[in-house]
Amino acid sequence: MKIAVIYHSGSGHTARVAQKVAEGVQRVEGARVELIALTGGPVPWERLEASDALIFGAPTYNGSLSAGFKQFMEDSTRPAWIEQKWRNKLAAGFTNSGAQHGDKLNALIGLSLFAAQHGMIWVGLDLMPGNSSSTGSTADLNRHGSWLGVMTQSNNDQSADDTPNSSDLETAAYLGERVATVTRRHLAGKA
Ligand SMILES: Cc1cc2nc3c(=O)[nH]c(=O)nc-3n(C[C@H](O)[C@H](O)[C@H](O)COP(=O)(O)O)c2cc1C
Repeated sequence: MKIAVIYHSGSGHTARVAQKVAEGVQRVEGARVELIALTGGPVPWERLEASDALIFGAPTYNGSLSAGFKQFMEDSTRPAWIEQKWRNKLAAGFTNSGAQHGDKLNALIGLSLFAAQHGMIWVGLDLMPGNSSSTGSTADLNRHGSWLGVMTQSNNDQSADDTPNSSDLETAAYLGERVATVTRRHLAGKA
């Protein structure tokens, strides 16, 4: 079972989240993960096509996906889209922003629509919302209360070594593990 985590990151925060997603994938026996950074260079299409699931990640810029990710979506995935090469692969997503809210949902909607247009099967986040009761805290998993995908927040004045916080990073790892588990079941059903 192969899973690719493909992401753009302007200043390293989303890259750190991507690494945690990949770590989560590796928690599942038999899962092999590839981290693919979108840097503006050639995209390894054959590696994407060979994957059973693709997990997309981008920072939220101006309430939307970063231009680096949009370039991948809009300019270069057309051949894969025309032939529906990713049809029935599993997909999931994550986004990272500077503000607590920061309009991250719009970025996740962009990722999920992108997956839908490629005929993919979207895997959401099955965690109850954290930090939403009198006993909750920012240390809770899914502290931003998202279902569509993982939301993480990085303080604007800190480097990726110090932010996002550990609960966001663990939530990212949880998503990776979930996608790998669901992919394994999906593949078993197809056999
Ligand atoms: C051009 C630009 C637009 C941004 N727009 C938003 C935004 O709409 N909401 C938000 O919360 N943060 C916004 N930010 C902050 C980034 O989301 C934040 O710095 C994030 O950690 C960047 O991730 P990266 O290091 O992976 O690029 C913006 C940053 C840039 C550079």
